[in-house]
Amino acid sequence: MKTYLSLIAAAAFALAACSSEAPKEETAPAAEATSEAAPAEAAPQDVATDAAPAADAQCEQVVESTDQMTFNAKEIIISSGCQIFKLTLKHTGTMPKSSMGHNIVITKAADESAVLQDGSAAGLDNGFVKANDDRVIAHTDLIGGGEESTVEIDTSKLQAGEDYSFFCSFPGHAAIMKGKVAVK
Ligand code: CO
Repeated sequence: MKTYLSLIAAAAFALAACSSEAPKEETAPAAEATSEAAPAEAAPQDVATDAAPAADAQCEQVVESTDQMTFNAKEIIISSGCQIFKLTLKHTGTMPKSSMGHNIVITKAADESAVLQDGSAAGLDNGFVKANDDRVIAHTDLIGGGEESTVEIDTSKLQAGEDYSFFCSFPGHAAIMKGKVAVK
């Protein structure tokens, strides 16, 4: 009788030991998995929000210019589907327009050198653009560091297949500060 009771006691102890350990192993991994899931889902939403403004940027373009006499664009792409194309020039530098002034002038590629020559003669007070120059399709103001200028271009003045240029008409700058205007 004594042996029988001690066997039951031993069995009960063994059961108790097993059941007290088992639940702890199951709960621990589950808690870690749920706490990691939340931050992973937030990241893709930020990317989608940043990309959204690009869709309605087809009828406008921003070009930046610097104290190092550079534009950050080699091409301005104008969609013929836009009646008005808004072109904005920003000067991200700090130098004044009298020493590091920038503008964007758009002409037919064939008119570029003559327009530059006449613009240079027109001088700083005229923003290095000859007044009432019919060859100038559009131009921004001449600006210095920290400034910006926007011009609205009537796209009916542009023909698909024609070669157009954009450049800064500040004397000497067009050697580097120039590019193509593509009408698409
Ligand atoms: Co310039």
